[in-house]
Amino acid sequence: MRKLYVFDTTLRDGEQSLGITLNVKEKLEIGRQLVKLGVDIIEAGFPASSPGDLESVRTLARELKGVIICGLTRAVEQDIDICAEALRLAEHPRIHTGIGVSPIHMEMKLNLNPDQVVERAVSAVKYAKKYVSDVEFYAEDAFRSDPAFLARVIEAVISAGATVVNLPDTVGYASPWEYGELIGYVIQNVKNIEQATVSVHCHNDLGMATANALAGIKAGASQVEGTINGIGERAGNTSLEEVIMAIYTRRDGYGVKSKVNTREISATSRLVSRITGVTVPAHKAIVGANAFMHASGIHQDGVLKGRETYEIIKPETIGVPQNLISLSARSGRHALQYRLEELGYSIEGAQLDDVYQRFLQLADLKKEVLDQDLYVLMGDSENPASNIVLQNMSIATNGLGQATATVILEIEGEVFTDAACGNGPVNALFNTIDRITGNLATLEDYTLKSVTRSSEALGEATVKLRYDNGRLVVGKGFSTDIIQASAKAYINALAK
Ligand code: KIV
Ligand code: ZN
Repeated sequence: MRKLYVFDTTLRDGEQSLGITLNVKEKLEIGRQLVKLGVDIIEAGFPASSPGDLESVRTLARELKGVIICGLTRAVEQDIDICAEALRLAEHPRIHTGIGVSPIHMEMKLNLNPDQVVERAVSAVKYAKKYVSDVEFYAEDAFRSDPAFLARVIEAVISAGATVVNLPDTVGYASPWEYGELIGYVIQNVKNIEQATVSVHCHNDLGMATANALAGIKAGASQVEGTINGIGERAGNTSLEEVIMAIYTRRDGYGVKSKVNTREISATSRLVSRITGVTVPAHKAIVGANAFMHASGIHQDGVLKGRETYEIIKPETIGVPQNLISLSARSGRHALQYRLEELGYSIEGAQLDDVYQRFLQLADLKKEVLDQDLYVLMGDSENPASNIVLQNMSIATNGLGQATATVILEIEGEVFTDAACGNGPVNALFNTIDRITGNLATLEDYTLKSVTRSSEALGEATVKLRYDNGRLVVGKGFSTDIIQASAKAYINALAK
């Protein structure tokens, strides 16, 4: 079996698309979880794109060990200089440089002829090699390029020292058999291809990013690039968890093996969703809330007789353990800790006390506290202590859609009370909080969903605030009272 190198670009291609700038702390938290997951390469950002990205790449390069830390550049010397500086303290640094190779990119975007593109590609790789031995070259829009020209570029950059060659389907245009053919063509027609690893990088515009990546692997690629939960530009990137579980489940099908610890998949997915604010659809393969749920009578009957009838993946394999104890208001601290450990959290001492107190408050409101509730409690407890605290709130509605909210906030120890009207309770609430805090950011998105299924479920509110400088901040709030959850989410975003 060939080794499949797993290249995670959640923090670069994933983040780049969200309009959200994750801060360094958030990126580091995701980076640490990716190390636990066992990916081989983390693309931490595009350092030349902003000071924030530079700082994030620098921090991940310094902090994360046992993994390759990669930074993206254009085929531009200044980008490469900045990237090299960001990667200076990395144990295993990689520079990922490249240029567009399709006629559309060369003519419309770059205004360069094919010879000039080859020259720029080769110079960039040689320049990056002065800094690091591990240089990956991306042939942007490779799928829409002329295969013979693509082979020429790839041969030239390998001669210049590229250790990995990435052949992206940048716009998600390929069908699996065509993408597989392109990878096969490059492997067959590039004389020095043995000196480099071939990488697949697919986008999901036609819903085929996972299928295309797998076709490329089957055709001989040994590195796959993608993101957790498939987040990314437009319709997203290849979902790494889907590729990992496809090759795990169909061991004989692809001829490759990865070193990823599948049991960390669920925790990684939840963390990425929590930090980015991008909700995972319930029916999403592998990590959606319904992925292991059997709703129809026939399926339930079959699964009870033998799991294999309708289940191809054991939930435990991706880190969703079977639940043998039911948690309620009668459960002790130890039972809670035991279940949290099964879900992948290790907590004790003051943190356990804090979570247990909030667990009891929730258990008073719900008959049974489910795993989804625990994920929420843990997410909440990991939030930094806020300098804005909701002390009290009340809402009055007039039955015609209008509402008045009264809110008491404690901001850095000082208590403020105010009231405002709005179209409905949430609008009134947010207007009041704006009056107290002087918030000028615009509410770009607000969503509310229930964490579990019953009418006593926890409500999860997500708020996205856009600031004048373009920065988007995501806040989350949880409560069995959905108006309170909304207030908490708004305050959480403001506090960030
Ligand atoms: O989709 C793409 O072509 C990319 C490259 C910059 C690697 O993300
Ligand atoms: Zn991409």
